Amino acid sequence: MELDALFYSHFSAKPVVKACAPGRVNLLGEHVDYNGGPVLPAAIDRAVNLVAAAQTEPIARLFAQDLGMATAFRLDQLEKKVDLDGQPLPKWAYYPAGVAWALQAAGLPTPGLEAIYSSDIPIGSGLSSSAAVEMVFAVTWEVLGGWQIDRMQMARLCQKAENGYVGVNCGLMDQFASAHGVAEHALYFDTRSLYWEAVPLMPAVALVIADSGVRHSLSTSAYNERRAACEQAVKLLQQYLPELHSLRDISPVEFAAYGESLPPEIRKRAEHVVKEIARVESAVAALKTGKKQSFGALMYSGHASLRDLYEVSTAELDTLVAIAHDLPGCIGARLTGAGFGGCTINLVEESQAPDFIQSLQQAYHEKTERKAQVYLCKASNGAEATRI
Ligand code: GLA
Repeated sequence: MELDALFYSHFSAKPVVKACAPGRVNLLGEHVDYNGGPVLPAAIDRAVNLVAAAQTEPIARLFAQDLGMATAFRLDQLEKKVDLDGQPLPKWAYYPAGVAWALQAAGLPTPGLEAIYSSDIPIGSGLSSSAAVEMVFAVTWEVLGGWQIDRMQMARLCQKAENGYVGVNCGLMDQFASAHGVAEHALYFDTRSLYWEAVPLMPAVALVIADSGVRHSLSTSAYNERRAACEQAVKLLQQYLPELHSLRDISPVEFAAYGESLPPEIRKRAEHVVKEIARVESAVAALKTGKKQSFGALMYSGHASLRDLYEVSTAELDTLVAIAHDLPGCIGARLTGAGFGGCTINLVEESQAPDFIQSLQQAYHEKTERKAQVYLCKASNGAEATRI
């Protein structure tokens, strides 16, 4: 059933806004967004859809269709993180509540609403299901609140919601991609200068996403620990390079000279970041000049680095990449997103994609006894909301 029709099963007001915000896949540049590095994601044609009605009271009444769960909370008491009955707010409601909290802190009105939403982005799979929920509420409040801000500021406020309200110390890549997606393009985004440009994807190449079926939880300490290791590396390297602000400021050549001084685990984390930043620059050049094989090789080495140096891969993700590597038509493959489970992204010759998908699923099942969900995706436009 359409979301508009389902709306009336839960609420009685008349819906006035329809909104949609996509998930993203990252082609290259993993764990560099919180180090000031460049990333190369694309918004995908899997998204959160939402229908909302305005309310006069400062209350958000939400129904999460996929979870089959409802909650309601006051928009003027967000710090308390409780529902209308004073019970702790369910974790899934932290995302919309956090967005309202960040918007209000920026002086932007977040009027009361009734909203139903539903997503076809697999949850916790590394495809930014959370950033898409944040963005869909941000664009909805933009329409209901009658204000307008640029998409970069909106992405930053959603990141603030996740950092300050949900408690995940993420970078800006996911919210940026959900806000700025361009159909058929990858997005080169420099997270230090905030410069970005849309780069056309290669013609006749399919984006195939394979879900390992293993789940991570970003808020588990592992993600925040990796970030802390990078900050520690910067501090230690400042002894030699006092001008250093982030790992973005050190070239692979300088790192070869000074990296030796770091404790082994910190050195591995920093080496991944420094080299991954260089890989993104090479990959963008390869994309712009149609050098498919070079692009693919950079993806494989990116994966090896996430596995061996950053240590965020899993046996299942490694298996998916190894299988893909040997299949006809595969240009490149790597884990995408934070890691600790989730998905791989595979660039595959379009004509060979159906066979690729079948063989990948079969071999993965034989090797792991798990079933991989595989999605053939298209690069898509960013979040938007319209009055209905
Ligand atoms: C998660 C975070 C992003 C980014 C990636 C890893 O998706 O939300 O900010 O750090 O992990 O590249």
